[in-house]
Amino acid sequence: MPAKVKLVEMGARDGLQNEPGTVTTQTKLDLIARLAEAGLRHIEATAFVSPKWVPQMADHDAVMRGVPRRPGVVYSALTPNLRGFQAAQAAGADEVAVFAAASEAFSQKNINCSIAQSLARFEEVTRAAQDAGVPVRGYVSCVLGCPYAGDIAPSAVAEVAAALHAMGCHEISLGDTIGVGTPGKTQAMLEAVMARVPVERLAGHFHDTWGQALANVHAALQLGVATFDSSVAGLGGCPYAPGAAGNVASEDLLYLLDGLGIETGVDLHRLAAAGSFISHALGRPSRSKVAQALAGQGLG
Ligand code: HMG
Ligand code: MG
Repeated sequence: MPAKVKLVEMGARDGLQNEPGTVTTQTKLDLIARLAEAGLRHIEATAFVSPKWVPQMADHDAVMRGVPRRPGVVYSALTPNLRGFQAAQAAGADEVAVFAAASEAFSQKNINCSIAQSLARFEEVTRAAQDAGVPVRGYVSCVLGCPYAGDIAPSAVAEVAAALHAMGCHEISLGDTIGVGTPGKTQAMLEAVMARVPVERLAGHFHDTWGQALANVHAALQLGVATFDSSVAGLGGCPYAPGAAGNVASEDLLYLLDGLGIETGVDLHRLAAAGSFISHALGRPSRSKVAQALAGQGLG
């Protein structure tokens, strides 16, 4: 098990991208400020995607420009193409992320092109980012199953992860987009990817649809993965993955890591307060079991 884990907070992007109601830009900025106060050092703030495809991220420019910067915090954004990268860079993104899929069907639904076409677009992004000195993260979606194509071969995941790594992505986040994975499948998928990309470069991104996200994190920790994505209050879902639940809740992940004695630099109570803030703003209870337990003890 790693002694230290890097947490990448998804709440403001993956968490809010699928919200049916309006979330004001100010609410997003307040959430991001609270997440940084809790000790998070990697915050995905927004997505420079088409507002027609994902209306909830239409205020990407205002979010990235307005975010109250805290020294040492990396504020990143999704960028599906060169246009998205240029806008993100102009707005002050510290890091950008390209997002591919291990499933052809999902790639078409999510970004309207084949996997090969997406990788060609991402090469344009990584080249421009390298010239500008902006680090690029790469995602692979559907690593443990696809809402349209079903099972996905670990070799297909490894192929896309290796391509992203080869074009210069410093970190490859492996997404169980629809949260169907179980620990054995997670380990088999990771072993295939680790044969092509060093484990230090990998991140786990588990959605919790079937309640397996923490078990999958534990399985990945055992193989040496030391970076995980999560959303405060368990927010989220993907607009192009019907029925998919949110990411593993950041509070639950932190409680697990604290319990294992793994260092993260994040304070659980402050994090739970950030989760409570956004849950109130959305008018519904947090999906984090840990937040619920803290609230039950009068500590949330
Ligand atoms: P397209 O329709 O093929 O592209 O969309 P296009 O070039 O024909 O452009 C269509 C329209 O979008 C045009 O506007 C462009 O100007 C505009 P119109 O002329 O119709 O008014 N456009 C843009 N606007 C703003 N920013 C841009 C941009 N590019 C074009 N960068 C495109 C292709 C990729 C743009 C579209 O499919 C898209 O935006 N998709 C995003 C989907 C998305 O955000 N999905 C959720 C995030 S992925 C995820 O959640 C998974 C993850 O969490 C990991 C996991 O869980 O597995 C990361
Ligand atoms: Mg996701």
